Amino acid sequence: MLDRLKAVAPDPILGIIAAHAADPNPNKIDLGIGVYRDAEGNTPILDCVLQAERILDSTQTSKSYLGPRGVPGFNSAMRELIFGAESAVLRDDRVRTVQTPGGTGGLRIAADLVKTARPDAKVWASDPTWANHLAIFPAAGLELLNYPYFDRERSDLRFDAMMTALAERGPDDVVLFHACCHNPCGVSPGPDQWDAITDLAAERGFLPLVDLAYQGFERGIEEDCRSVRLFAEKCPEVIVASSCSKNFGVYRERVGAISVACGTAQKAADVETVIHSVTRKNYSMPPAHGTGIVDIILHSGELTALWRREVAGMRDRINGLRKTLVERIAAAGIERDFSFLQRQSGMFSFLGLSVDQVRRLREDYSIYTVDSARVNIASFNDGNLDYFIDALKTVL
Ligand SMILES: Cc1ncc(COP(=O)(O)O)c(C=O)c1O
Repeated sequence: MLDRLKAVAPDPILGIIAAHAADPNPNKIDLGIGVYRDAEGNTPILDCVLQAERILDSTQTSKSYLGPRGVPGFNSAMRELIFGAESAVLRDDRVRTVQTPGGTGGLRIAADLVKTARPDAKVWASDPTWANHLAIFPAAGLELLNYPYFDRERSDLRFDAMMTALAERGPDDVVLFHACCHNPCGVSPGPDQWDAITDLAAERGFLPLVDLAYQGFERGIEEDCRSVRLFAEKCPEVIVASSCSKNFGVYRERVGAISVACGTAQKAADVETVIHSVTRKNYSMPPAHGTGIVDIILHSGELTALWRREVAGMRDRINGLRKTLVERIAAAGIERDFSFLQRQSGMFSFLGLSVDQVRRLREDYSIYTVDSARVNIASFNDGNLDYFIDALKTVL
């Protein structure tokens, strides 16, 4: 049977990681990696996580199965964090949140839920979008199409083209949005644009599916959910796939959730049973460790305050780096305008380089990134910025 299988090419990002690791050049830089880096180039364990982990270690008494809901305190805390404790959807008990293995797990469960509800539904994703979106929805048997989003010439949002395309969508469609910090292009709709997008969703009746993978990395923990909250106010249904990988720094623990807001409390309860049947088929029971940590943090006033400070620290570092990059690139006499980097947000942006320029950065300077020239802004630090800017100047 397995003789028929052919080797699958690894994800290009894994090839970059391996090539960077094998490179002896002491000045090498990996700009492709998808995790937060601090000023020393490390992906640290947050202090709030270290403290919560100690509490978890000293209080847990069993490794028995959790049951399909997972850690109930995690689910309720996530629901409040995303929709707001005072929101009408929570007050009316119209949201169900169930933990999933990472945001990726949340997306896959969302895809299975849609497939169960409406097998011929079409899913529309921004052009471009996170590469794994392109794999997850078709893997669940759904057709994936795209809507205009990023203008490569202007490094900006194609707002009018996006609105025109979304005005064609209706109740048979699911439209996937990035709540903030768009991966890969870093461009987000502004507040007025979200107002118009959420009005359009209500008018056209398509189902908004929001990927919330960087909550707190753009403007703030509450601010970054504004789109979700507007969809929940205006539309009868919204699905959110959220991730704690980045904002709690618990990548390998696989912590995420699916949240579904419905028109009535009864419908939400019914949908939760479908979620449980879908997760049962996928992985039977959810893991406990990572969600246990987040549960402890979000139920301690002190640890929550610490977490909020640590998220603000990561956000401020990335935004500060965006500003420094733009200033230092201009100060180096590079004529091309990179000011778009400062208008964008989150860890990722496209530098707007050709494949040949990306190759020269790699071959001549040991600066590694993917062919699209998507870079992780958090990879920069005081130790590598000058070297990068010199290299950039030469390849432009
Ligand atoms: C846009 C987007 N969605 C979802 C995820 C999923 O994150 P995870 O499954 O690691 O929680 C990521 C991770 O890089 C992402 O960039």
